[in-house]
Amino acid sequence: MPDQKIRMAIHLLQRNTFGDPKDADKLLTSEEANALLNEWVSNDRLRLHMRQVAAVMKAWALEKENADEKNALKWELAGLLHDADWEKHPDDHCRIIIEHLESLHIDPEVIHCIASHGPKYFGVEPQNKMDKMIYVFDELSGFIHAAALIRPTKYDGMDVKSVMKKMKTLSFAAQVNRDDITDAISRIDQSLEEIIEFIIEHQRNVQ
Ligand SMILES: [Fe+2]
Repeated sequence: MPDQKIRMAIHLLQRNTFGDPKDADKLLTSEEANALLNEWVSNDRLRLHMRQVAAVMKAWALEKENADEKNALKWELAGLLHDADWEKHPDDHCRIIIEHLESLHIDPEVIHCIASHGPKYFGVEPQNKMDKMIYVFDELSGFIHAAALIRPTKYDGMDVKSVMKKMKTLSFAAQVNRDDITDAISRIDQSLEEIIEFIIEHQRNVQ
């Protein structure tokens, strides 16, 4: 979720399987996903948020999970599209983009990953590492970007310690739910510090 979003509402999807197994490996290109994103979302900040999460997801797949190109594209697509319906359908967030991707016969893993990005809100538990990482990266990416924007030098010279300090300052980016971040991190083997460092490094140059 982008930092400016206040996500109070719970929109349980009321199902746990998504897409059709026959559609495994059917993907959009990243250009097609970007075109969809640009068509559905007009808010520049929200577009940037999705591109940042996508860049971090793709980089993590390639650098940490030994993903091949096709698998890394799945991670990237989930990042690019996870909030695509937020602006036009705030009351049906997640359901609309999921049903659209199902109508396009997109790979079930990509759709499940999108459905996993807020277990408390959509009622879908992250299962594989891709699911867990979108949950980890979503709020943290927005939080780190908010922290960068208020620095005179933006991302330059930004370190993990200063982000950790801001996390403890509950009045800063108050809408970012710290409990969600703690819960997401508890599901993976990496530390919060390691994740913050990775995000800073991989989203700083995303335009
Ligand atoms: Fe998001």
